[in-house]
Amino acid sequence: MDPKTFHSSSQRQTQDLGEDFAAQLSPGDVVALEGDLGAGKTEFVRGVCRYFNVQDIVTSPTFAIINQYDGSLAGGSPVRIYHVDLYRIETQEQLRSVGFVEMVNDTSAIKFIEWPEKARSEMPDRHWTVALTNDASNENGRMIEITAPERLLITDY
Ligand SMILES: Nc1ncnc2c1ncn2[C@@H]1O[C@H](COP(=O)(O)OP(=O)(O)OP(=O)(O)O)[C@@H](O)[C@H]1O
Ligand SMILES: [Mg+2]
Repeated sequence: MDPKTFHSSSQRQTQDLGEDFAAQLSPGDVVALEGDLGAGKTEFVRGVCRYFNVQDIVTSPTFAIINQYDGSLAGGSPVRIYHVDLYRIETQEQLRSVGFVEMVNDTSAIKFIEWPEKARSEMPDRHWTVALTNDASNENGRMIEITAPERLLITDY
């Protein structure tokens, strides 16, 4: 599917785009969040967590590497949200020691990965990509491009 592009003019609007985006997600989904330092990846996840009725305050997992939140789906069933920041990860060994591989393959949870390029070979093939870039003409402007996971092609023969 073609990527969809959105424009945000504020922190709040990026959160709102995250909240709208979250409605499409199902347990098991993985979302790669691409973009420079300060692009707004964590703000986007704040909006996602609002959609899933997370009560905790969402903070950047800069030092913890993996934060987890308990939320609920639209129907009320519980769902675990993982928010990961791999910026400080340097080696495969570090990735393993924080439990990244088990976490990213947890089929009951929804996972958001900042700096996914640090785990290129561990990322599942099917994942969403949300890419945030600065808008050169506006200090608070961001372009947000969302690419859905490739659908499995089901053919009759
Ligand atoms: N349109 C916008 N969308 C999101 N954040 C914005 C926007 N305009 C300004 N900001 C500011 O940019 C910063 C984005 O910070 P955020 O922690 O979300 O970035 P990040 O991409 O997660 O960076 P890092 O890789 O360091 O974790 C915040 O300080 C926020 O107030
Ligand atoms: Mg962040």
